This record gives sequence, C-alpha cells and structure tokens, in this order.
Amino acid sequence: MKFETRVVHAGHRIDPTTGSVAPPIYLSTTFARDSEGTPFGGHTYIRESNPNQEQLEDGLAPLEGGEGALVFASGMAAGIALLQTLPPGSHALFPDDAYYGFRTAAEEFLPQWGIRSDFVAMDDLAALAAAIRPETRVVWLETPSNPLLKVVDLAAAAGLARAAGALVVVDNTFATPMLQRPLELGADVVMHSTTKYFGGHSDVQGGALVFARRGELYDRVHHVRHVLGAVASPFNCWLVLRGVRTLACRMAAQSAGALAVAGALEASGAVSAVHYPGLPSHPGHEIARRQMSAFGAMLSFRAAGGRQAALAAVSRARLFTRATSLGSIESLIEHRATSEGPASRTPQDLIRLSIGLEHPDDLTADLLQALAG
Ligand SMILES: Cc1ncc(COP(=O)(O)O)c(C=O)c1O
Repeated sequence: MKFETRVVHAGHRIDPTTGSVAPPIYLSTTFARDSEGTPFGGHTYIRESNPNQEQLEDGLAPLEGGEGALVFASGMAAGIALLQTLPPGSHALFPDDAYYGFRTAAEEFLPQWGIRSDFVAMDDLAALAAAIRPETRVVWLETPSNPLLKVVDLAAAAGLARAAGALVVVDNTFATPMLQRPLELGADVVMHSTTKYFGGHSDVQGGALVFARRGELYDRVHHVRHVLGAVASPFNCWLVLRGVRTLACRMAAQSAGALAVAGALEASGAVSAVHYPGLPSHPGHEIARRQMSAFGAMLSFRAAGGRQAALAAVSRARLFTRATSLGSIESLIEHRATSEGPASRTPQDLIRLSIGLEHPDDLTADLLQALAG
C-alpha cells in the first residue's frame, strides 16, 4: 500500500470493548493481574509499557520500514536513551552542524559517561572516513540538517560507518518517512522528534526511535527507558498518533510550499543565500533528489547585511510567527543563533523558516516586505 494510505491506518484498531473508532486514552498507571499473578492485558506498569504507547509504536515502526519502535517523552530523550546504551570508552561521531541539543549533550554529558565525541562534516565522505576510529561505536547523521539544510549521502555514509562496525543512527526529523527512509539506505536506527511533523500542530512533545531489527539493541534501549524513565504520556502518544494520520498530506503541501518560497526568495535577490535542498543551486541537490521524494518544509537563508539585518527582518514578519521549533501547520521564523544561545555556531545572518500550510504566495509576500524594511 502507498504511504498516504498507511499513515491513515498506522497502528489503527477498533476498540474491541466499545467499537470506538478513535482510540481510547488509557490513563491507568497500573494494570491488573489474574489470580495466578499474570497481567492479563499484557501490561503491568505505565513506565514499562502502556496501551497508547504500544499503539503509537506499532504505528510508527512500519512507516520507517523497521521491525520495532520505542517512543519517548521528547526527541532528545529518544536520542539520549540510545547513547546511554554505549559502554564507557566508546567514541561517537556527530555532524558538525548537528541539532544543537545533541552537540550540547555530546560536549557536556557524554564525557561524564566515558564517551568521547568528535564533530565532522558528514557531507564530506573523506572527512567522515578519516574521523572513524577503532572505538567508534556510533555515527550520527542528520539530513537535511538543522539549521544549515546540509545534505548527507546516507547510503555512502552508512556504508563507511558499518564497514567500521559502528551503529548508524539518522535523525530523520526534518524529512519524516514520507520523504526519506534511512533504514532502506543502510541505517540501523532512525530517530525522530515527534514534536515536529508527526505531531504537526505545535501542541505535543515526543520522540521516537525506529529500529531496523528488533534485537538486542532494541531490548537494551527499552531497558534504559524503563529504568531511567523518559516515557511519553498516554495523552501525548495519542496526540502524536492523531497527527500521523494527516502526515502525508501535510508534508506534501508544506514541501511544495517551501519549494515555492525558496525559489521566490532566491529569485528576489533580496538575500545573500538560500539553503534549501530542492534548489538546483544547493550543493546536495542531486543527492537529495536520489534519496528523498520531496525536499521538506524547512529552509534557511542569509540576510544581506549581517546579524542586524537578519534580526530586523525577523522583527518585521507579520504572517510568520516569531518562534522556535518547526513542523507545524503555521509558518515560523527565527533568528536561529538567538534561539540557540551564546554557544551557537550558527551564522549570525541566518534566518530559519518552518513552512506551514499557508499559501506560499502570502508567505513570500510577507518575507519580501520584511526584507525590504
Ligand atoms: C532535528 C532535530 N532533532 C532533535 C530535536 C529534539 O527534539 P525535542 O525538542 O522533541 O526534544 C529537534 C528539536 O528541535 C530537532 O530539530
């Protein structure tokens, strides 16, 4: 079946006791056992497993082509739970422009757990090959990347990492399985902030890991979640699954909108550069065409005139909401370095856009008036 059909039915089942078509929300934290002490509904305690979480996981895994999924309280919690399975002495490689939460985690927390990290330009395969060491256990990829929209050749990078015995993890938050399926290109695990496109409405936080194989690694990460406790609430699981139902049509419309806005911005001459993989001028355009079915709804651009010009343009936006985050139906604009804080490595003239469902002509008009001042 086509992806559009599969999202509508992902994890869907009619409630056997009431016939409810929309899934019930099971708030119970604890589950009864029969007289022999066996939990008769398959669950014992909410932190270990619960019906809404299980339903979301059953829905997400096949969308990425994985054997199993685990969902979490946030995207960061998902990624960190995976990294917490690494033995001390491990080495991890992250993209040089990784989502700043993972850079912060790699610099501040991983060393406390005995894990050393390096950052590498993953779109430079020679640099990746040179950075891999015998003790490299994880190669973390993010494509398109946040916020520079760099594109990594997933099949080639995964091939290098796997040849060295490292686990390949791909943060697929920007693309979603609608546009890109890293497990089919050689990744072992896909990570998502479901706060973004899966939820789709800026009203729920969550994270997910989808595993190519439901084996030992899946069990170890499940154990980390169970014991350390970064679980998603039943209501949040319910909201994310509701968002999944419309993922395909939202991604299609929002990606088309982003392509139109990116093209119009580039043609306007009002900005010094546009970073969007769908533009033929993007250095990763050909790779993106090969591994993505459309180019996503995130883009960034550089204001001619530097930091002050970027801040001024953001402040003049009317239709775009000035806010961080992404993936929702309303368009957002942000001066990314300000959002990331003093340690940010993002260029000071960079403005990031999350394109929503508004008409791209209206969005373009808003940006052009904001840039004109
Ligand atoms: C690409 C990417 N990965 C991971 C995260 C972290 O997700 P969360 O905020 O749900 O923890 C984000 C959040 O913005 C993100 O953009």
